[in-house]
Amino acid sequence: MVQKTVFGRMDDGREVEAYTLANGAGMQVRITTYGGALMQIIVPDREGKPADVICGYDSLEDYRRADGYQGALIGRWGNRIAGARFSLDGTEYCVGANENGKNLLHGGFHGFNEKLWKAEAGENSLTLHTFSPHGEEGFPGNLAVTVTYTLTEDNRLMLDYRAEVDRKTVINLTNHAYFNLGGYASGPIFDHTLWLDADSYLETDAALIPTGRLVPVEGTPFDFRTPKAIGRDIGADNRDLQYGGGYDHCFNLTGGASDEPILRGELYDPHSGRVMQIFTDRPCIQLYTGNVMTEPVPFKGGYPQQKHHAVCLETQSMPDSMHHPHFTDGTLAPGEVFTSRTVYAFSVR
Ligand code: BGC
Repeated sequence: MVQKTVFGRMDDGREVEAYTLANGAGMQVRITTYGGALMQIIVPDREGKPADVICGYDSLEDYRRADGYQGALIGRWGNRIAGARFSLDGTEYCVGANENGKNLLHGGFHGFNEKLWKAEAGENSLTLHTFSPHGEEGFPGNLAVTVTYTLTEDNRLMLDYRAEVDRKTVINLTNHAYFNLGGYASGPIFDHTLWLDADSYLETDAALIPTGRLVPVEGTPFDFRTPKAIGRDIGADNRDLQYGGGYDHCFNLTGGASDEPILRGELYDPHSGRVMQIFTDRPCIQLYTGNVMTEPVPFKGGYPQQKHHAVCLETQSMPDSMHHPHFTDGTLAPGEVFTSRTVYAFSVR
């Protein structure tokens, strides 16, 4: 079932909508056309008690003034581009240097998280469309993007991405939901256990720009190949963790991208019993433990933002890959169709 409400208006009067997808198993997902953001994921715990497991805001104004990309669709390029420039087939492109006036983060000054997406409701899905003209934020090519959110009866939330362009470009789409399986207002996520099918991560410099080195997780605080509490090593004496102020790193999934989505990660909250499995066909997951989640914009119901109170697991390809020939390919050419699927599957234990 899909229900539509008006969430607010843009300055030019365009209506911003919110859609609620509900299934028969007690799960509800609310999405706004502003930034295509996931606003709410309500899912039962092991006793059947529902809670909202992602952070978000009560009003459109809060979404518009906050910086944290809460629940939003990210594009054209998720994560970072060093120096906010790259060359593609001999042409140099300068893109929005929205981080420290130097690097690009999450699409630039006005990324897909600020777009008003066009919605098309299905039986149990919501399809969002946007168009990014050639030169937007400096990126080449007229780019058409479609993202479909589907809620299944077995509590899976599927995200299907599709993009086409008329000139060679680069693309790295993701969703930036912040999860806390105890409920977004239930405190830090240190007790959540995480499993990640990743045998290396990307080393970065202090500005979180990849150095080009893939570091094996073996023997480091970055080893989640057997489930581990997120808080166990987050404060370890480790330079990479200090740069991030916690985990803020791109994990390379073992064997790289896959044709079909496969199980790559699992987040588990021992208190509520909620489990979230992540299936994806992407080669990487950025693990971000809400290290700078301290904006003065309160979450739903007035709950204050607090460091480490939620965790992002952003499926993607390698950041800054245009500067590292041995990284994954982030280019998209005319005639190609970019498609990708990520599934967040909820259950209890
Ligand atoms: C980045 C963080 C950044 C955050 C912004 C994450 O994906 O890796 O460094 O602070 O997004 O909300």
